[in-house]
Amino acid sequence: MSQFRVTRTLPEDATGAALRADVLAGLTSTPKWLAPKWFYDARGSELFEEITALPEYYPTRAERQILADRVGSIAAATGARTLVELGSGSSEKTRILLDALTGLRAYVPVDVSESALTQAGEAIVAERPGLQVHALIADFTGGLTLPETPGPRLVAFLGGTIGNLLPDERAAFLAAVRALLSPGDALLLGTDLVKDEEVLVRAYDDAAGVTAQFNKNVLSVINRELEADFAPAAFEHVALWNPEREWIEMRLRSRAAQTVKVQALDLAVDFADGEELRTEVSAKFRREGVRAELAAAGLELAHWWTDGERRFALSLSVA
Ligand code: AVJ
Repeated sequence: MSQFRVTRTLPEDATGAALRADVLAGLTSTPKWLAPKWFYDARGSELFEEITALPEYYPTRAERQILADRVGSIAAATGARTLVELGSGSSEKTRILLDALTGLRAYVPVDVSESALTQAGEAIVAERPGLQVHALIADFTGGLTLPETPGPRLVAFLGGTIGNLLPDERAAFLAAVRALLSPGDALLLGTDLVKDEEVLVRAYDDAAGVTAQFNKNVLSVINRELEADFAPAAFEHVALWNPEREWIEMRLRSRAAQTVKVQALDLAVDFADGEELRTEVSAKFRREGVRAELAAAGLELAHWWTDGERRFALSLSVA
């Protein structure tokens, strides 16, 4: 008998409250910033799916290749009976893992988006009779409590999304993940790798302009949710490589001096001509850096797998 349960650990209005606090902090800072998690309303998630199919955006294909090549080793090394997937989204790459983890008894997808969880969860329950699916509506950057499912547990955080956290946020996140693990449990982490600047910048500034639309979509989210009057066309998409920090930054550059009103915050925000608003960092990693960050959180790197072109890495670490 398969089972499908959904547990909400986020208050219904948590997202709205967090968005208000973030937008207020970011738009009144110098320089201005917005947190990347606000890209992903229904339209933003659709645009991100489109990005993953672009010729310039290699991370999704590279990670899928590594997973397909190494899933047998992952199954053998972990013997996982529970798969926890953080930021599961559409769960597309999850299929590869679910198919190979033959001893799996429970699947715990964790996401802030209830619609994504319900759709993906129901489909998986239908395909895998006997598998318990326990979806968690939760913000994985906050404190997580996992349901009691059989061990060993494999916690997967794919897509390179860890790169969207700033270094101190990453340290806190990894420590929180470590706290969820018992001896014998493991973390499967996807990280995009440092590479040629041109390849990196093109992945975030594609010829078809899909990433530019994705970047500007955050302004539409704020317009709708916080009664703001951003004109997306009054901003230019910018993607640049920061060689000191080894991360890509996405920014929106004001094409003129302008004032934007955010009614729900009772706020008027002045932009100078050419002023930039940072909307995302996407950090790129090296093996030694990943090993050190894992070690600082009490996790030991056990396997490091890359695609043939060494563009992306999957690591498996243990508590
Ligand atoms: C969500 C981490 C996979 O940083 O590459 C894609 C989001 N931003 N294009 C990334 C993103 C711009 C993305 N991840």
